[in-house]
Amino acid sequence: MADDDRSEPIAVATGVDGGSRSAAVLVSRRESFNAAHQLYDPLLSDEENQRLFGKCANLHGHNYVLEVVVGGEIDRATGYVLDLKLLSDIICREIIRDVDHRNLNTDVEWLAGVIPTAENLAAAFWERVRPELPEGSLRSVRLWETDKNWAEVRDHV
Ligand code: NI
Repeated sequence: MADDDRSEPIAVATGVDGGSRSAAVLVSRRESFNAAHQLYDPLLSDEENQRLFGKCANLHGHNYVLEVVVGGEIDRATGYVLDLKLLSDIICREIIRDVDHRNLNTDVEWLAGVIPTAENLAAAFWERVRPELPEGSLRSVRLWETDKNWAEVRDHV
């Protein structure tokens, strides 16, 4: 192969239409953090919050796990879709640094006014990392709140 071909992305045959379409390759990075939160709307009474959120209205903590998935074509020069060290750096700089060992209701400027459900957190995390990544490459942000519960934001492609 000529050297000047190395900047071309590698097309991966999907086989779904005779192999002529290319498919994106997905890569993911997982990071974790510990944080406290309470599901509580300050505009509502204590009784209404208890009715809506039960014991989650009380301050408590989680060991959160965050998975960010990026898709694209494999770069011929590096063999990467995206350097996962770079993805890790973005997640840590834009999210983990601000939320780890914090109270998510009170301590994080960019979560002000947000009831910190897993859904709202995943949506906020999506908005934090998306502008830092190559255009259109962010595929999903999944936040595990417990071993049993996660919420995910995906692109609409
Ligand atoms: Ni909780």
